[in-house]
Amino acid sequence: MITVWVTFLFITIGPSYQYTYSCNSSVTCGCSSGSQSVTRIVGGETAGTNNWGWAVSIKIGTATGSALCGGSILSSTWIITAAHCMSGVAASKVTIYAGSSARFAGQSRAASSITVHPSYNSGTKANDIALIQLSTPLTMSTAVKPVCIPSVSSATLAAGEWPPASLYVVAVGWGTLAEGGSLPLYLQQVTIQTIAYTASTCSNVLNDPQKQLCAGVPGGSKDTCQGDSGGPLMMFTTSNQWELVGLTSYGYGCAQAQAMGVYTRVAYYQSWINQTTSNAYINPTLSVSAKVDPSNSTWGNATSLSDNTFSSSSSFMFFSLLFTLFFLMYL
Ligand code: ARG
Repeated sequence: MITVWVTFLFITIGPSYQYTYSCNSSVTCGCSSGSQSVTRIVGGETAGTNNWGWAVSIKIGTATGSALCGGSILSSTWIITAAHCMSGVAASKVTIYAGSSARFAGQSRAASSITVHPSYNSGTKANDIALIQLSTPLTMSTAVKPVCIPSVSSATLAAGEWPPASLYVVAVGWGTLAEGGSLPLYLQQVTIQTIAYTASTCSNVLNDPQKQLCAGVPGGSKDTCQGDSGGPLMMFTTSNQWELVGLTSYGYGCAQAQAMGVYTRVAYYQSWINQTTSNAYINPTLSVSAKVDPSNSTWGNATSLSDNTFSSSSSFMFFSLLFTLFFLMYL
């Protein structure tokens, strides 16, 4: 009887704490291992092995040591990252690591050329996007796979924000666990939401809504941080693939309530990426619309992550009470 109740408890509470995305592993981009489980209640967490096959750690050699940035695989020879990671850096100082959840581990490749967006502005961080070509191709596998690049018409882009506000998106990286905090050993993931550029927590940090977007959670506490720059902000599509919608760019501290994280709006740069890589990237096969958003029933009717936390903890309380009651009755 007790086992039955414990099982019942897990079945009831489990899904409200975890969300499992099942991607289509037979596609050419945006799915490495078939499922990615994310927790909805903490700041961030260690990612599952091989879940984000396009996430790379980038080591930038400096006079005193090395700097860290993130990036994503577009093809076996092209990596996309942030301009502020690569601006003024010689290709010979850059090493890319793919296929491992540990930082600076796995397949390592030297950069043969770096293309920083010609209009990158280090003051406003406008056009914070760069492409790295590798000297030798990466060996593709389940653990090393390209991400999908959005395929959005200029009409859609002009019509309003794309991706739209309040969408659930996932950011990953090897950056610090808190503002001024330490670096994790393994790749971290965090579920956040796109924030409307008109929101005060976005407009106070954003410079250009066309070229940048904000993501975070109302009230702060979930964010990317130092070292995550250039890494992916991803949306899950109705074709069950992960699409790169943002590149980690900057923030005011990390995870603060008054300032959301700022990301380069990748969809704005489709033609630049196309031209620079000679069309080496891959688009999602079927659809470009988001599968997971707050109106999607699989996420419940909650409108924000904090609502979910509340409802799951209250259902937890309710069922623990029931459980205790039945337990006492059987004694
Ligand atoms: N500029 C940082 C980097 O170089 C990324 C900061 C992101 N900050 C934020 N609050 N989201 O790693």
